[in-house]
Amino acid sequence: MSKTEIVSIINQKGGVGKTTTAINLAAGLALKNKKILVIDLDPQGNATTGLGLLNSENSNETIYSVLNGTKSIFEVVKNTQFENLDLVSSNVDLSGLEVETAGDSKRAFILKDKIMAYLKHYRGKYEYIFIDCPPSLSLLTVMALVASNSLVVPLQTEFFALEGLTQLMKTIDRIKNNLNPALFIRGILLTMYDKRNKLSSEVEREAREYFKEKVYQTVVPRNVRLSEAPSHGLPVLIYDKTCSGSKSYFSFTDEFINQEKSFESAA
Ligand SMILES: Nc1ncnc2c1ncn2[C@@H]1O[C@H](COP(=O)(O)OP(=O)(O)OP(=O)(O)O)[C@@H](O)[C@H]1O
Ligand SMILES: [Mg+2]
Repeated sequence: MSKTEIVSIINQKGGVGKTTTAINLAAGLALKNKKILVIDLDPQGNATTGLGLLNSENSNETIYSVLNGTKSIFEVVKNTQFENLDLVSSNVDLSGLEVETAGDSKRAFILKDKIMAYLKHYRGKYEYIFIDCPPSLSLLTVMALVASNSLVVPLQTEFFALEGLTQLMKTIDRIKNNLNPALFIRGILLTMYDKRNKLSSEVEREAREYFKEKVYQTVVPRNVRLSEAPSHGLPVLIYDKTCSGSKSYFSFTDEFINQEKSFESAA
């Protein structure tokens, strides 16, 4: 039976393009007939609204009620208006989880256990589960790191971008050493690239020098269509499939799929 890969879109820095990447990679793969589940793990609920659902409804229907133990994933999965693309939504109540689970010494494993329980019954239903992480290294992010097979790290091509990565890499190593030895970084995706700004090319050069082939060839440009699409509840790939932002996410989707081939030949 086919395997489901769990991929977190992660960077503790805010506003670097995590949600945009989660939504559009998910949409790009769904357009290629792959079955995708997005889990919105951010109390801001941006992946939820960006995929056209509400982040204002009752938290009984969201990832919050899964993580506080009252619901199974099966009970909260929602169809989006897009074929092959389902969602576990989020809302602001999720921000209370850290305090509410303070007495639970195994809480880092809650998300993993819930996903595993789901996959036991629905193995093969999805090819990928993408987790859209919040901008922090808090409990929610640790839960995502413990539950994931691999990571995609969006990196905004601006000053200080690489400094934040050091802290993220340390956290990833700590989780690998203690809680999830098989975790690996699929790649780093450069975002919001501005070709008129020297800083963008400088950050790109440094990132490629330091992280080598871990940096995806695709670079996502700064593109206003990418920032408009979420207010319409649409992935940019559907909102305006010919804009430069869409072209880059189509290309990223292809690069992501091609990684599978290189994983297979290495195996
Ligand atoms: N390449 C881009 N060009 C222009 N705007 C972009 C681009 N990528 C993302 N944006 C916009 O920048 C803002 C931040 O992007 P996004 O929400 O994807 O980042 P994030 O890392 O998920 O943020 P947070 O840390 O708050 O969750 C959003 O308004 C988004 O629409
Ligand atoms: Mg986000």
